[in-house]
Amino acid sequence: MLPSLAPWNAAFTSAVASELETEPFIPFSFSNVGEHGIPHTRTCVFRGFLFNDTKTNVLLFTCDKRSAKFKDLIKNSNFEACFYFHKSRKQFRFSGAVRVITNERHPIIDLSNLSTISSSKEKSGESEIKFNDTDLVVEQEHDFYSIGLDKVGIDEPLMYKIVSPSQTQNMNVSTLSLCELNTTIHAPTEEEWKAERQRCWNDLSRSLKRSFKRPLPGSLLTSEKYRLLDSINRGVDGTSSGQENFVVVCMFVKAVDLVELTGGVDKRYLYKKSYDIDVWKEYEVCP
Ligand SMILES: Cc1cc2nc3c(=O)[nH]c(=O)nc-3n(C[C@H](O)[C@H](O)[C@H](O)COP(=O)(O)O)c2cc1C
Repeated sequence: MLPSLAPWNAAFTSAVASELETEPFIPFSFSNVGEHGIPHTRTCVFRGFLFNDTKTNVLLFTCDKRSAKFKDLIKNSNFEACFYFHKSRKQFRFSGAVRVITNERHPIIDLSNLSTISSSKEKSGESEIKFNDTDLVVEQEHDFYSIGLDKVGIDEPLMYKIVSPSQTQNMNVSTLSLCELNTTIHAPTEEEWKAERQRCWNDLSRSLKRSFKRPLPGSLLTSEKYRLLDSINRGVDGTSSGQENFVVVCMFVKAVDLVELTGGVDKRYLYKKSYDIDVWKEYEVCP
């Protein structure tokens, strides 16, 4: 089967769309831990879905390769990202692992389990399961994080159903699924990752592109650096494009905590992706 929307995705995409009717961009808080286990949070801007395809369920933002967050994420790729949408009064708290697309790295997608196990689960209609066990403390339930806790490095292969965009496009024009066609699904190629980084770069405004040429983020501001910043701002610095510092951060979501403020009894849903297959569980829990 082709990748499909995770059960949280339609509500999220719709909240994004209504927010963008009046706001220029979608900010969110992105958190990860540094090497001493200390949490760090900062505002980032949501840049849409991987391969511009909501069905990947992978959320994007961009950062500078020289930033503290990038250096920390290389060692520990676990993240939490929190969005609040004023108009729809919904909070989405995503957690999972990031992977990055840089000039020398891209995510390593392991489809070996997915192409076999998930297709049999999907055939039996288990791609989204609802639970309502009354006494279950869902947040403590075993999930993705119980397994592979030592494999937090950013170059670890990830079991996530990300199919080569060219294969997805071919399938979109066909009415048959990959299973029915008896086709093996394959992960994006190196060229496709490269093209995705270029697509995200092309989407940036001129001033944002220039920000990647700035002196080392967080370094002391000297008068020399001040002059350089000024000439970068005016576009007369004559240095490289800055693209070598450009990173696309891909948030591979493994769990979502959605809170809906209703004005009455608030609603709260937890969504959890299974460790190695493309199956989501959905729980309605006490707010
Ligand atoms: C509205 C707003 C949007 C921002 N968007 C981003 C972003 O998309 N990516 C990013 O790396 N930093 C962004 N920043 C800057 C970060 O909040 C942060 O200051 C910077 O990335 C350094 O963080 P670090 O030292 O933890 O890496 C944004 C800041 C603001 C105020």
